[in-house]
Amino acid sequence: MPPSSEWGTFKESRSAPIHRWFSFPAGFSYRAVEWAIGASPGAPPTRILDPFAGSGTVSVVAKGRGIPSGGTEAHPLVARIARTKVRWDYDMDALRAASEEFLASLEETGPGLAEEYPVEALPELVRKCFSRENLGRLLHVRETLRRRGRTEYRDLFELALLAALRDASAAATGWPYIAPRHRIRESDGLEAFRRRLRQFVDDLVATPAQVRRIPADVREGDCRSSPFEEGSFDLAFTSPPYLNNYDYADRTRLESYFLGFASSWREISERVRQRLVVSATTQVERGDRLPRDLLSPEVERADPRVARGLRERIEELSRRRLHKGGRKSYDLMVALYFNDMTRALAETARLLRPGSRFLLILGDSAPYGVHVPTEVYLGRLARGLGFRQSSLWPLRRRGEKWRSNPQRHRVALRESLLVLRN
Ligand SMILES: C[S@@+](CC[C@H](N)C(=O)[O-])C[C@H]1O[C@@H](n2cnc3c(N)ncnc32)[C@H](O)[C@@H]1O
Repeated sequence: MPPSSEWGTFKESRSAPIHRWFSFPAGFSYRAVEWAIGASPGAPPTRILDPFAGSGTVSVVAKGRGIPSGGTEAHPLVARIARTKVRWDYDMDALRAASEEFLASLEETGPGLAEEYPVEALPELVRKCFSRENLGRLLHVRETLRRRGRTEYRDLFELALLAALRDASAAATGWPYIAPRHRIRESDGLEAFRRRLRQFVDDLVATPAQVRRIPADVREGDCRSSPFEEGSFDLAFTSPPYLNNYDYADRTRLESYFLGFASSWREISERVRQRLVVSATTQVERGDRLPRDLLSPEVERADPRVARGLRERIEELSRRRLHKGGRKSYDLMVALYFNDMTRALAETARLLRPGSRFLLILGDSAPYGVHVPTEVYLGRLARGLGFRQSSLWPLRRRGEKWRSNPQRHRVALRESLLVLRN
């Protein structure tokens, strides 16, 4: 199968068993991973890495194929979601019985008790997404789960509840944005949870018994200083953050607030935003005095020509921002992105055995209309860091629907597959 224009989107994964448990806005197609495994020359890979694991697409595919995998994900809530999706070694009869027993216990206490829960204590965003009554039902599930303490099924049931949030919401919560003012028909929160939990159990029961114990080691961690051992993987596949001002921490705000994982913008910054590779202006702070050269020596050493191209763009962005209302710090964002990604590439090279491939789904970008050929630059930096080959395959054009918007630039963007060989 040749590369497909859908690979960079979550569309195909949205209806696939297990992948569908959580519609991660930045997810990509599971089919791209299947292709990468099948297209490996010689023997199939023995252990696959995803340095930016997200909701675990790579590990779910690898496990289904009986191949061990590992991954790092810096967003704590997303890492927990991925870990839950790759745990399949339940006693399936016991799991089904426990799920039905839990659902029955929710009925016993009755949704009428919803009134008891402290709906007012939740951040406004959550309250705006549901009617008071429905939010009470969802809190009823959350609290019943909490009262039971840490059981074997806790994470699985909690993920079913997270998935039910967007299913039940009265606000248009289509990824990536939540639009509380745009109302849609609300669905019963208990019913949404029931459907999700049964779907999860059905998907788990359908997994082949012989792969259920295949290790899929997704860690909460930073891929710039990975916990994995040198040379312990022979294929890597990922989709890193794009340089497109997309705030991953913000996109999971509904779930983070509902679980009480954070209750304000500041807490989300401390617990999530500051840990991620810089790809949004919400992650950078403009101090009084910026260093003269924003790029790190690692970028300069890896490829001085790329560093020069980046400096020109960074300077242009620091000029353009002065004439824009928002005065966004795209200059800083671009510099810090390449500093971070250079470290991520170097660390991934360390984890791969010689001769292994590293595939990245990537998009370019054009903040304030200044085109940054991210995929070309990362390919060159990778060569400078020791990867022996690099090639680019176009996947699709992006940003078409924005083209008529006068607020946006008109640079044609694309999504590509960057294939590196160690
Ligand atoms: C494009 S998404 C990956 C989506 C994933 N492939 C999936 O199918 O769900 C990029 C991910 O990188 C994570 N991330 C950002 N900085 C990171 C870092 N330094 N280390 C590990 N993960 C990071 C983000 O939280 C986000 O989940």
